[in-house]
Amino acid sequence: MTLMPSNKALVPFVSVANMMKLIHQIGISECLVQLTEAVETDFRRWPEFDKTPRVASHSRNGVIELMPTSDGVQYAFKYVNGHPINTRAGLQTVSAFGLLSDVATGYPLMLSEMTLLTALRTAATSAVATRALMPHGARTHAMIGNGAQSEFQALAQSAVNGLDIVRLYDIDATAMQRCARNLRAAGLKVLEWPSPQDAVLGSEIITTCTADKQYATILTDNMVGAGVHVNAIGGDCPGKTELHRDILMRSDIFVEYPEQTRIEGEIQQLDADHPVTELWQVLRGEVPGRRDERQITLFDGVGFATEDFSALRWLYGALREHDCYEMLDIIADPDEPRDLYGMLMRAGVQSDRQQAANLPSSTEQ
Ligand SMILES: NC(=O)c1ccc[n+]([C@@H]2O[C@H](COP(=O)([O-])OP(=O)(O)OC[C@H]3O[C@@H](n4cnc5c(N)ncnc54)[C@H](O)[C@@H]3O)[C@@H](O)[C@H]2O)c1
Repeated sequence: MTLMPSNKALVPFVSVANMMKLIHQIGISECLVQLTEAVETDFRRWPEFDKTPRVASHSRNGVIELMPTSDGVQYAFKYVNGHPINTRAGLQTVSAFGLLSDVATGYPLMLSEMTLLTALRTAATSAVATRALMPHGARTHAMIGNGAQSEFQALAQSAVNGLDIVRLYDIDATAMQRCARNLRAAGLKVLEWPSPQDAVLGSEIITTCTADKQYATILTDNMVGAGVHVNAIGGDCPGKTELHRDILMRSDIFVEYPEQTRIEGEIQQLDADHPVTELWQVLRGEVPGRRDERQITLFDGVGFATEDFSALRWLYGALREHDCYEMLDIIADPDEPRDLYGMLMRAGVQSDRQQAANLPSSTEQ
């Protein structure tokens, strides 16, 4: 008998180090393009998914959330936090990990870091919504809030939608400078602005991605002109929004899962029956997206479990070609499935023997 785990006990695990290795091997723009297709493909088969608003545990500083879904073949969940106060202590506002499993056996297929994967999938989701709703010929993207998500958002919009001019604004000038430096190094044309009004001027696409645990007004009504597409990404909790209500009243609003967005999104400011359109229906061609060049379209993105499912499935597929994982012993695998106790007891005897064999004798001490 041995204490070594069997193959059935081992599950691939993608650490942060391996995730970074994988993204470099594939290339970040290519990752964002592939993830955009993965997210959109799953939106198009929306009725196949089990859906529920995420389970949120709120506290004074932030929120911890569990996000589960299944397509009947595979199941996924993500653990994610949102703590705007964290950056002051040198911690991430958002950190996450998640798991993909096999519905037929209930066994995990893969465990992964999801802080980087969330940044990629959130950017890919914005790219999906923007591709479906943006005005014809758009090239300029205003990015308000230049934190951890921002470079990913800008790169996805460039790689997927050709938005290669980025106009930045953040209340923290050092955050804006860092974002500008990183995006210039990636080949984008970047302009930094002293106010959000300046940043949005002439931009066909506006993304708000700020972090504040309160109702904020990042965009006022006069800042959003006819024909613009807005991605509001940072308002994703009860009591945490980014847009003035008047903008919502002038926009056609597109959402992921209304049951969750009405609790967490910009539309928590509106009546519970205010009309919204589900993005999946636009992507399937069942309802129109942008109807004319003067319409304001708003993607009220809060992040939904299917996007994490899509990202984990994409990652699981990528591991076939990229050796970017290690095996973790996280499933008990007794020789006889019901003899879990026997497995534990035999391991005790074995470890006692091993200890005795390795211990120095009393004369050596
Ligand atoms: N919708 C989704 O799927 C999704 C996914 C991930 C994160 N988020 C949300 O996106 C937001 C940003 O996340 P992050 O990881 O980039 O956070 P972060 O803390 O790294 O960055 C937030 C940035 O917003 C800036 N900011 C705050 N108030 C501002 C204001 N009034 N005007 C301009 N800039 C302002 C901050 O200075 C900071 O640089 C968070 O609220 C997070 O919860 C949403």
